[in-house]
Order: sequence, then C-alpha cells, then structure tokens
Amino acid sequence: MHAAQLLPAETVYAAELAFLAAWDTGARPPGWSLTPRAAVIFVTGSGDEALHLPHKKRSSMRITPKFVGQRNLVERAIVTLAGERGLLLVGEPGTAKSMLSELLAAAVCGTSALTVQGTAGSTEEHLRYGWNYALLIAKGPHPEALVPSPVLSAMRSGAIARIEEITRCLPEVQDALISVLSERRLSIPELPGPDGVVYAQSGFNVIATANLRDRGVSEMSAALKRRFNFELVEPIAEFLQERQLVERQAAAALERAGAPMAVDGAILEALVTAFRDLRAGRTAEGWAVDRPGTVMSTAEAVSVATSLGLQAAYFPDDVLPLLPSYLLSVVRKDDPQDQARLQGYWDAVVKRRADEGGEVWGRLWDLRSSLESE
Ligand SMILES: Nc1ncnc2c1ncn2[C@@H]1O[C@H](COP(=O)(O)OP(=O)(O)OP(=O)(O)O)[C@@H](O)[C@H]1O
Ligand SMILES: [Mg+2]
Repeated sequence: MHAAQLLPAETVYAAELAFLAAWDTGARPPGWSLTPRAAVIFVTGSGDEALHLPHKKRSSMRITPKFVGQRNLVERAIVTLAGERGLLLVGEPGTAKSMLSELLAAAVCGTSALTVQGTAGSTEEHLRYGWNYALLIAKGPHPEALVPSPVLSAMRSGAIARIEEITRCLPEVQDALISVLSERRLSIPELPGPDGVVYAQSGFNVIATANLRDRGVSEMSAALKRRFNFELVEPIAEFLQERQLVERQAAAALERAGAPMAVDGAILEALVTAFRDLRAGRTAEGWAVDRPGTVMSTAEAVSVATSLGLQAAYFPDDVLPLLPSYLLSVVRKDDPQDQARLQGYWDAVVKRRADEGGEVWGRLWDLRSSLESE
C-alpha cells in the first residue's frame, strides 16, 4: 500500500485549524480564517494547556508545538501579514523558514499550496502568468488560455502566496512583485476589458524566504526591499528546546518510515550538544571551538537522529559508534578544512568531557580514529 510521504500543514493539522477557528470567534483581519491570536497558537502550540471551546467546556484540544522558540517573531510575522507589506523570512539554512512560512499560510488562509520555488531559472511568468499555447493559438488571448501563477491565484482568492528562496531569482524577475505588493493588482495587457486587470482580494499577501548563505538579500532592489518587512529567523536558543524538537521530529520521521522507535536519550543529548558547540563556536562550559564553515542546523541534527534511529531499527547493533562518521558527513560539505576542525573538537572538547567522566563522551573519545580520512 502506498501513501503520500508528506502532506501539507493544512491537511496534517486540519482538526487543529477547525478547532482554533471555533475557539476564537473574535474579530479577524478581512479574509482570514483564524484570528491573529489563534494563528500564533497554531504555529507555536498551546503548551501543556488544553484549550476549551467557549460554550462547550467538554470539548478541548491541545495544540501541538510546531515552530519552536521566538514567539515574538511569530507575533510580528502575523501582524505583518495583516498589513500591507509582504513578509520576508531570512536566516541561515535549516532554521525552519520554509516550515514557518507553510504554517503561517495554513493558519491565515487555510492553504500553503500557492508556492513558487525560486531558482536561477525562474522567470517573470512564474510570478505573474503564462499561457497555454495550444489554447492561445486555437482561441487567441482568452481568459481560459491564461495560466495563472500561484501569486495570481492567491490574489484572486485572497490567500497567501509563498515564494521560496526569492533571492535565487534574478533581481529583475523579483521586481515583478513590486507592483503586486504596492498596487495590489496585476494587469494582463493581452486580455481586453475587465479581464485585463486582476485586483487582489482581501486576505492576499506574500511570504518570501531567503537563505543568508545564497546570493544575498543585498542584491534585492531597494524598491522591492521596501515592500517587505524583514524578519531574521535564528537557530533555537535553548538547549532543552532543541533537544526536545530533535527527538520529536526524529520520532515522527521514523514513524513515517515505518520504523517507530525512540532514539537513545544519551546519544541524542551528545548529538545535539555537539551540533550546538560547533554552531556557536563555544561550548556551554565556555570552551572555545573552531567553527566549521558548514552550517550545523537543527534540520541536519534531525536528519542525523533519524538516520541513527533507522540504523538501530534495521541493524540492531549499538549505534553510538556511527555518530562520529555521521557528524563528519554533515561537517565535510564546503571546506576540506572542516574535517580537521571536527578532529580538533574531539581533541579539545570530547576528550575533556571524557576526562571529566562523561560516559558517552568517553566512548566517543575512543572512537576518535573514525574521524581519520577515508
Ligand atoms: N525553530 C524551529 N522550530 C521547529 N523546527 C525547526 C526549527 N529550526 C529547525 N527546525 C527543523 O528544521 C526543519 C525545517 O527546515 P526548513 O526546510 O523549513 O528550513 P529552512 O530555513 O527553510 O532551510 P533552507 O534555508 O535550507 O531552505 C524542520 O522540519 C525542523 O526539523
Ligand atoms: Mg527553505
């Protein structure tokens, strides 16, 4: 039997969205499916508390945590979406910009599907509209021959359009959004009469994401920048939050892979600690670490934890000995020097923790030779 590998947020969390719409019936921005307060709770979760429906005290639901940390950021993002500027989420790779954009779109308009993936090959048509050439030749310029972009569809239905990796598009392509964001309409000069202009319906807005490691937002035109509120999405600040998130997401991925099992707690602890040390260039104890050029993102930590879990499910040996080589494969992506940096981390930090009696660290120190070149 086959099943979809990954469903969009509005499908996965359909019950939560329906519950939240009934839970808070207060005023909402025109065209929105949830109030801003309910949208924040959808994205960040309701904590340990279950929410109760106002008039049916027995009907309650706990909203699962999804995007972790930075609640203020989520609030500001939602306020931006209720206004007239677009939202641009920028940050290092793997900080959940795409995930946050999907959750926000699902919360605000009930669909995250109106998405354009920006690439070096993106053209204005991807952001505006194109034509079905068979129909165009048969019927001439006619509304039926028009192929709307996700942006145009979102304008028509008063929904959120998502533009992933906007800075990978050429700046002149990005600029197709300027008139959409400022005039809130798109003209289609080929179509005569009232079909020749589409007015954005209330609820329409744009969420774009941009990766700081790619071509910079600095190349974005000043005119377009001015039409976006920028929000920086940072890595998860708290150790415990990151550890729990990695555990939760790896468990979910293992379940999807048909191997429902938990990754050993001590291994998870060491994995997340190593990621955070290498990301920050400093350990919790305050020891300096030579930072690798690769981004040690939470998303990568989740994928290493998942791989370790799969390994334990299919080859039920001790998986700890595999941790050093998984770390090495994460680290060794951009700069060959990064392998030496990871060895340096072992010699300085792992050894020191091993000497201080950390059991897992002692075993990891014994595995130092698996970091030698393959
Ligand atoms: N603050 C966070 N809250 C929840 N999940 C997070 C967080 N930070 C990282 N993640 C993890 O990262 C994964 C999502 O990564 P996502 O693809 O959204 O990142 P991204 O910032 O868009 O990366 P890229 O720049 O490479 O496109 C999530 O599935 C989750 O496992
Ligand atoms: Mg992304």
